[in-house]
Amino acid sequence: MDDRLKQELRAICRGEVRFDEPMARHTSFGVGGPADALLLPGDLDEVRAVCRRLVSQEIPILPLGDGTNMLVSDAGWRGAVICLTKGLRVISFQEETGSAEAGASLSVFSRQCQRAGLAGMEWACSVPGTLGGAMRGNAGAFGGETFDRLLSVEALDMGTGQTLLLKKEDLPHSYRRCDLPPGLLLLRGAFALAGGRPEEIEARMDDILSRRKATQPLYERNAGCIFKNPAGSSAGLLIDQAGCKGLGVGGAVVSDLHANFMVNRGGATAADVLTLIERIRDRVRQHAGIELETEIRTIGESP
Ligand code: EPU
Repeated sequence: MDDRLKQELRAICRGEVRFDEPMARHTSFGVGGPADALLLPGDLDEVRAVCRRLVSQEIPILPLGDGTNMLVSDAGWRGAVICLTKGLRVISFQEETGSAEAGASLSVFSRQCQRAGLAGMEWACSVPGTLGGAMRGNAGAFGGETFDRLLSVEALDMGTGQTLLLKKEDLPHSYRRCDLPPGLLLLRGAFALAGGRPEEIEARMDDILSRRKATQPLYERNAGCIFKNPAGSSAGLLIDQAGCKGLGVGGAVVSDLHANFMVNRGGATAADVLTLIERIRDRVRQHAGIELETEIRTIGESP
């Protein structure tokens, strides 16, 4: 990225701009080399202006929420990262519809639904990450998933700066997957909720939270489940049965609590994580004859 473009980006994006920013600081795993630029626009106008400028220069754009479901390579990201957690995080309610901007926290949205006496997002009460990330990957837990209650999304055409309204039916989606057309950046989602008593909604959340605490390593650095569940089975169960708990490469270790989580015990590199992923895959293939598919998104150049 040349100095002139850097100066222009600083002028357009008054939120915050950093260059050669280590992605380890912006991912829940704490892993990842530098991005050429990391931009935190202060509002939608800045998002629009920054995207148009970058697209016109053919600079690749990586949208970022809380970095909870991604593995960034040690070499980092050659392009710009646009993080919406600063400028786009408004949550609002109108009757039984909840609306949240892409940079809003998923668990905060879930909690605000509960306080407003609106049911349907309990499953998300302790899921880390943003609404944008949740919509992009159709995040789910405890029997619920993001698309269950999604009505529509607003997305930015990063090239033209136009805002588009897409209905749920316009977005092909399935388990932990949403096929967003290329060139679009998710800005907001609207959700159909159901009236309920706040204390009953809270009781369901408490139950989910205690189950999560008992079975998942919430207090260690991780990126959520590493592999998707294969049809009719659980990746965690298969990895556990293949004897992988405690298996480690460098600072990356398979959690003792839940075998489909890897934790960063300190200093893990993306190369450690990728090597461990392949070891787990090999073991499960040998043990159960099943090929596991990763759920986390791998970003950037291979090490
Ligand atoms: N199990 C083991 N050993 C383990 C882990 C699990 O034997 O180390 C067994 C459990 O005892 C249970 C079965 O495997 O009988 C399923 O485990 P669990 O209930 O924990 O659910 P999961 O299928 O492993 C899924 C989601 C999680 C979500 C939980 C809770 C995927 C890949 N995982 O896990 O989502 O939080 O259900 O609903 O779909 C994520 O996507 O990042 C994620 C964490």
